[in-house]
Amino acid sequence: MMPISTTLLLLLLLSTIITATTTTTLSSDITALKSIKSGIYPTTIPPYSCLASWNFTSDPCSTPHRTYFLCALSCSANRVTQLTFDHAGYAGTLSPLISQLTQLVTIDLSDNKLSGPIPSSIFTLPFLQTLNLRSNSFSGTVPPTITNLKMIETLDISHNSLFGPLPDISTSQTLTRLDLSFNSFTGSIPKLPLNLLELAIKSNHLSGELPETSFNNLTQLEVVELSNNSFTGTIPGWFFLQPLVQQVNLAGNRFTSIEILKPVKAGFSSNLIAVDVGYNEIVGDLSVNFTLYKTLSSLSLRYNKIQGPIPEEYGETASLRRLFLDGNYLNGMPPEGLFSGKSSVSGSLGDNCLKKCPASSELCLKSQKPSATCRRVYGGKSN
Ligand SMILES: *[C@@H]1O[C@H](CO)[C@@H](O)[C@H](O)[C@H]1NC(C)=O
Ligand SMILES: *[C@@H]1O[C@H](CO)[C@@H](O)[C@H](O)[C@H]1NC(C)=O
Ligand SMILES: *[C@@H]1O[C@H](CO)[C@@H](O)[C@H](O)[C@H]1NC(C)=O
Ligand SMILES: *[C@@H]1O[C@H](CO)[C@@H](O)[C@H](O)[C@H]1NC(C)=O
Repeated sequence: MMPISTTLLLLLLLSTIITATTTTTLSSDITALKSIKSGIYPTTIPPYSCLASWNFTSDPCSTPHRTYFLCALSCSANRVTQLTFDHAGYAGTLSPLISQLTQLVTIDLSDNKLSGPIPSSIFTLPFLQTLNLRSNSFSGTVPPTITNLKMIETLDISHNSLFGPLPDISTSQTLTRLDLSFNSFTGSIPKLPLNLLELAIKSNHLSGELPETSFNNLTQLEVVELSNNSFTGTIPGWFFLQPLVQQVNLAGNRFTSIEILKPVKAGFSSNLIAVDVGYNEIVGDLSVNFTLYKTLSSLSLRYNKIQGPIPEEYGETASLRRLFLDGNYLNGMPPEGLFSGKSSVSGSLGDNCLKKCPASSELCLKSQKPSATCRRVYGGKSN
């Protein structure tokens, strides 16, 4: 039997050996981490946050992390591969030395208060797959060197104060999710990368028409969110015929017309589920062609300037669950099918020029326009 003190000594020795065998972080990675931490104002590093535990008296990549480097980074061997800040409200700037962490695969600094430019050196990271800088205060333009990201899959720089033209990343073969929403980008939509699944550029200052050349051959695209910009012209028919498109939100723009083609191309079956083109300036009739999209479940054309009757077919589609047509100049009698017992359509037909919208239906709760308004729109004729 060994005395307890000897056992302890052996254990201690053993753990020293284990610690010694774990790789120590590459010194240029340590330099970069120190520079990143020193870019953050110390007063915005709360005592129990991840960054507070970055004490460089211990090695960042050596495990286990008992007291220091508790979170915000992952390593593979002696290199940092992931930088994921907690949402602690860190304020400051992002050090350009981040580009020394050349094995980074993931950067997620979302929901903090980082400001200043996005350092262009970040775009030289050869293995970066996810860049999430969402909800910070980054400002300035996006450097054109963004095209250097060769492996990028998810790029989210939404909810910042970025401005200037949209970056052209059309040459990327890997990018599938792009979110540039809630910034102040101007100009039109550039050509988009071919393998995009989700595109969100909500609430910016984009203008011009929807260019077909930008969306050409985007065979994977499923979600398009371009609401609250200043787009003009016609919402073109091809837009809804993109092969995998499911969700389209173009609300809150200045489109003046919409073209809905029959989804009858050879070998094509539409996957369209939700369309929101509300709060535009669309004139013309309500196209019956929307009812030919057999998977369409939610449709909003609210607050436009659409006239004429609601085609009967709107009361006969099996897929439609939500229908918002309120705030237009639709006239005539609404389709009876929308009110029959078997219909489960919710939404609104209010604030139009409809006759006999049954008040017993939730769809008709909001009242119709004053008849004087409707007579004026329809050149004195009654609705
Ligand atoms: C790191 O932690 C040690 C031990 O708690 C402390 O003595 C040292 O001042 C700390 N260093 C820094 C840079 O915070
Ligand atoms: C898009 O596809 C068409 C054929 O469908 C092809 O002729 C054209 O070169 C493609 N364009 C690009 C930019 O890949
Ligand atoms: C557009 O902006 C308005 C006002 O900021 C907001 O209420 C609305 O939810 C936004 N709509 C969309 C579709 O993003
Ligand atoms: C329906 O689509 C066809 C072609 O697909 C088009 O010619 C026609 O004008 C469309 N009708 C309406 C009412 O939009």
